[in-house]
Amino acid sequence: MTLSTHDTPLSQDEVLQRIGEVRERLGEDVYILVHHYERDEVVRFADVVGDSLELSREAAAQGRARYIVFCGVDFMAETAAMLCGAQQTVLIPEPTAHCPMAAMVNADEAALAYGRLSSLWGGDLLPITYQNSDAQVKALCGRHGGAVCTSANAGTLFRWALGQRGHLLFFPDEHLGTNTALAMGLPQQEIALWNPREPEASSERAAGARVVVWQGYCHVHTRFTVSDVQRVRREHPSARVIVHPECPAPVVQAADGAGSTGYIVREAVEAPAGSTLAIGTEINLVARLARRHADKTIIPLARSLCGTMYRIDERKLLRTLESIEAGRPEYVVTVDAETTRWANEALQRMLSVG
Ligand code: 13P
Ligand code: SF4
Repeated sequence: MTLSTHDTPLSQDEVLQRIGEVRERLGEDVYILVHHYERDEVVRFADVVGDSLELSREAAAQGRARYIVFCGVDFMAETAAMLCGAQQTVLIPEPTAHCPMAAMVNADEAALAYGRLSSLWGGDLLPITYQNSDAQVKALCGRHGGAVCTSANAGTLFRWALGQRGHLLFFPDEHLGTNTALAMGLPQQEIALWNPREPEASSERAAGARVVVWQGYCHVHTRFTVSDVQRVRREHPSARVIVHPECPAPVVQAADGAGSTGYIVREAVEAPAGSTLAIGTEINLVARLARRHADKTIIPLARSLCGTMYRIDERKLLRTLESIEAGRPEYVVTVDAETTRWANEALQRMLSVG
């Protein structure tokens, strides 16, 4: 059979119909995991839609399907490929769906920071990486007794780490790291920033800290400002404002609540009819929640799109499914055995602790 291409003359309706048909023919051989930020045309074909923790758990638990199609960004598909069974294959419909924040740390830079801080504190340090990082950074954490966390369980993992060691080094989101440490009651002066371009100055700054956060960020979430929160409160005085913890600390502090995309979905479901919710996260999710909960007023704090999530569309999903059916699976996600072994140490700690 021939594969659909991007310039296929198929209409949108034909594409959607074909996806349904191929899926049916593939039956239990294929399982589609979709992150909340994906577009509706992709979400509608999901076996499971979730936040990155929920999707990791699914990948680890779903042992039946031969093929897992992961509609999300690179680090999520990579995590699924490491957690799923040896007989399973993970595919991503768009291989260039790289999360820019995950690319802000690499294993060499991370090892340098870990080595310096570990010497400073005589080994009394544990590394934790946000799931938004590559497999090598996860493996580094696994090798040194550390763990992975997501925005859904960062507090639990931070408490776990600081229960064992005096200090914690967190890659690569300074905002999630800072928000989590502040929520645990750590004073700002015990939180230091690690700038990978200035290891000397960063080591000096870290001297009085308990938590050191890597200087990385998500451009989708740093777009939200305290002024956005103030404007929404002026225009909608009864609104509840919730944001993702990748937003800067002043925005999280100005909001009424913060949490993972799964938390945001639950807030929208549980909000009483007639209430107003302003949400600071990726626009595809906010717009879907607004459509699904028409009995509530759900508005974006500002419009902010994750362009890499958006690269996956229904045509690419069709192409991936057709490649499986043709016996030539396209864009298979693989991680070498040694990296997988150590990254899985860190991932399994997350799944058992958090
Ligand atoms: P969640 O873990 O909340 O789904 O977030 C993933 C992410 O990339 C947010 O930008
Ligand atoms: Fe990465 Fe930000 Fe997109 Fe999440 S929203 S995948 S952190 S760029």
